[in-house]
This record gives sequence, structure tokens and C-alpha cells, in this order.
Amino acid sequence: MTPLPSQVSVAADDVVLDIRALRTEFMIGGQWHGAVRDLTLSVRKNETLALVGESGSGKSITALSILGLLPEKVARIGAGQLLFGGRDLTRLSRDQLRDVRGGEIAMVFQEPMTSLNPTMRVGEQIGEMIRAHRPLSAKETREEAVKLLLQVGIPSAERRVDDYPHQFSGGMRQRVMIAIAIACRPTLLLADEPTTALDVTIQAQVLGVLDKLKREQGMSMLFITHNLGVVALIADRVAVMYAGQVVELASVTELFAKPTHPYTEALLKAMPRVDRDSDDLAPIPGAVPSLINMPIGCAFANRCPLKEPRCEQESPLLAPLPTNGDHGVRCFVRNPEAL
Ligand SMILES: Nc1ncnc2c1ncn2[C@@H]1O[C@H](COP(=O)(O)OP(=O)(O)O)[C@@H](O)[C@H]1O
Ligand SMILES: [Mg+2]
Repeated sequence: MTPLPSQVSVAADDVVLDIRALRTEFMIGGQWHGAVRDLTLSVRKNETLALVGESGSGKSITALSILGLLPEKVARIGAGQLLFGGRDLTRLSRDQLRDVRGGEIAMVFQEPMTSLNPTMRVGEQIGEMIRAHRPLSAKETREEAVKLLLQVGIPSAERRVDDYPHQFSGGMRQRVMIAIAIACRPTLLLADEPTTALDVTIQAQVLGVLDKLKREQGMSMLFITHNLGVVALIADRVAVMYAGQVVELASVTELFAKPTHPYTEALLKAMPRVDRDSDDLAPIPGAVPSLINMPIGCAFANRCPLKEPRCEQESPLLAPLPTNGDHGVRCFVRNPEAL
């Protein structure tokens, strides 16, 4: 098998995070089971890589693995590497990871109300993050907080910096979260469904803010969503996840023009429309196999209209298409290289 371009570009200096054959496991019924399986993916400088897939496909567990925030004892990284800034994040101690988190790698999650402290002014919360990583005076910290609020498009930032979270709308709170996340000028931002709780118009505005910041700061983004409409708006490249594996990887234009894995096709047919306020994908018939019951063959076979006997006997590899080396597809039927 010819490796994917993203698999061989380790040394290339346009790669910010190189995820290699990552396996993240949960202890269930006395045994370890893979929730993320053989995940190889790299995030390049200045790009937004979207991780898309139905609920339960392993997107959040991928993000938590990178951040070193997996639940202790019940979860572990069973195999693979997370190469970032010349280090393998899987080998860092909890303290070392804490320094990376919020500094070089920042994150934004779905629920701004639960991540913001309701009893602290937003300026102080931004300030805490700034001071944890940069030695600034109180006055400088406040000025920096105002600047960050302006950068994420909060009007009257000079005054709003002294407000409490409940004085902001949902969309504005999510902007505050983004301001906190970018306070230390991270090289990589992990965004896990950051706009899912927002209505469609506000969602588009927040995506616009993230995209602007990415361009202004030269930041890279790993953007997690179950919504292909959002992918179309923000992503440069897309990795489609199914049952813990990447099943298709391509540029956003290529993916929408030539969806090739049967699962991607099904997702596109079930796609929620951006102009409608719909959070969930229309269901694809059948169910995602459970962690404790992964088939030996292709994980999608039981739901696949193109299934052949070999699909249930062997597991396909994520390999580039013969016609396009930048387009990876994990399917025997659609990609002769997947053997
Ligand atoms: N604490 C846990 N214990 C056991 N299994 C878990 C736990 N957390 C998540 N999982 C399983 O890991 C898989 C991936 O979950 P997740 O990454 O949260 O999915 P997504 O973010 O794509 O919706 C799911 O099958 C989920 O049930
Ligand atoms: Mg999730």
C-alpha cells in the first residue's frame, strides 16, 4: 500500500500535529476495547481539518486523547503516536500536558455556560488564562482581554469585559470562550461541536469568527462536527469517521464533489441543511457496531448497500485512490488500494 501523503509528511514543516496509528481504548467488562482505531491523520499549518461522523464515532475521544484529558483508569492510549512540536504527546506527564493545553493547544467545547465560571467577570476569566502562560501586569492583562474580546467581535468590549457570563447571549458566550482559547495564541485549536448549541444565524457568525482568527493568527484547527453543512462552511480538508476509524479523507471540494466511501454517501444524503435549524442527521438504516462487538471485517458492512462477501472477512485499509493520491478511502469496493 502506498502511504497517504499525510502519513509521510512527518518531517514536512507544514505539519502541526501528526496523529499516527492512534488507538484509544476503554475498559469494558474486564477488557480493553478500541473507541479510536488505527487513526492516522495530520493537521497542517494554517488549515481547518474537519472531523465529521455520527454521534459515537469517536470524534470527541480523539480530541480528548490529544489533550490528555481521557478519563483516568477506564481509558488509555493503547497504541500510536501524537507528534506535536517535536514531542510525542502520548509520552508526556500530566503536568507537561497541562502546559501544552491552553498554551500551544487550546480548545473550545459545545457548552459555554458550563465551562465559564458564573461568579467571575469574563475579563478576569480571560485574564486567568493569559497570566497562566504569559507574564503580564494586571493593567496589561486587562488591556489584552479587551483586545481579545474585540477580536472575537464583541461590541463595546471596554465595558463588556466587566460583565458576568449570564449577561451575554449564547452566541456571545461562545465568543468569550473562543477569546479565552486564543488568549495564548495557540498553534492548534481543537473545537468540539463549538456551534452545535447555537441557532443557525449565530452559528454562522461564530464560524466566521473562528475562520478569521485562523487566518489572522496563522492557527490550525481540528474542527469536530456531526454536521456536513458546517463542514462545507469552514473546512479545508475533511476526515469522515465511522466506528472509531477514518473511512474517507479528502479536501472539502473533493469530498463534496466525489464522495466515495458508501458511508460518506449515506451521510451526504442524510445531511441537515444549513438553512434549517436541525441538529441531527436523518438516520442511516441500521446501527453503528458497539465497541465490544466490532466486526472483523469492515465496520460499515452491516449497513452498506455495496457489501460483498470479502467486506465481512477482512478489514479494509485507508489508502489513497489510484486516481487521486490526496483522497483516501477505506473501502474494498470503491478503492482497489484498500487491500
Ligand atoms: N467513559 C466511557 N466509557 C466507555 N465508552 C465510552 C466512554 N466515553 C465514550 N465511550 C464510547 O466511545 C465511543 C466514541 O465516543 P465519542 O468520541 O464521544 O463519540 P462522538 O464524539 O463521535 O459522538 C462511543 O462508542 C462511546 O460510547
Ligand atoms: Mg462528541
